[in-house]
Amino acid sequence: MSLHIGAKAGEIAETVLLPGDPLRAKLIAESFLTDVYQYSNIRNMSGFTGTYKGKRISVQGGGMGMPSTAIYANELIKEYDVKTIIRVGTCGSLKREISLGEVILAMSANTDSNINRATFNGMNYSPVADFELLDKAYHQARELSIPVRVGGIFSTDFFYDENPDRYEVWANHGVLGVEMESAILYTLAARTNTRALSILTVSDNLITKEFNSAEGRTNDIENTARLALEIV
Ligand code: HPA
Repeated sequence: MSLHIGAKAGEIAETVLLPGDPLRAKLIAESFLTDVYQYSNIRNMSGFTGTYKGKRISVQGGGMGMPSTAIYANELIKEYDVKTIIRVGTCGSLKREISLGEVILAMSANTDSNINRATFNGMNYSPVADFELLDKAYHQARELSIPVRVGGIFSTDFFYDENPDRYEVWANHGVLGVEMESAILYTLAARTNTRALSILTVSDNLITKEFNSAEGRTNDIENTARLALEIV
């Protein structure tokens, strides 16, 4: 029984969807899964196991930012033998032409976090998605007519930032979006031979300053959840 999830052995499926928001975990479980069982509510960070088209799936809230994500991903992998983790979340767009509601599949995750530099003795590691999941998600999105882009993202430790030009260098190097979780998820997955992919809907555009309401974000998350469920 792990410290933060606290589920019993066998209560969590091999495949887990990991939204940041525990209320989204609940919504995804209630909207898409049958025979739903809530295995955790520690800190209100809910986790559920159910069935989607005959396959056992869990949905676990992971919180915001890399330290929180790392806590849940570590426990899922090391204590519950989870083999596939799909982050379903939101990101800010770093390109004028990528609109709210579009889906970005994070092929690689750059970061300003020190969490990896500390691990790699000051050198830079390149966290990447599992190619098979990425390939499947891309083709599934095309099939479902969901507007989709594939590329690098930036996982940052800052949401509120005093420097308005901070993202320019990333945008100038082809990075599509910014969020706060994927770099550590991909790194932990690589280290433990686990498959991981981040499927992100654009909730705000950092160039045009448009942003989606909380309600709009929730609707968009439902799209990404369906995409994630269809590829596992
Ligand atoms: N910045 C960081 N994380 C995010 C953003 C953003 O603009 N949008 C969604 N997650």
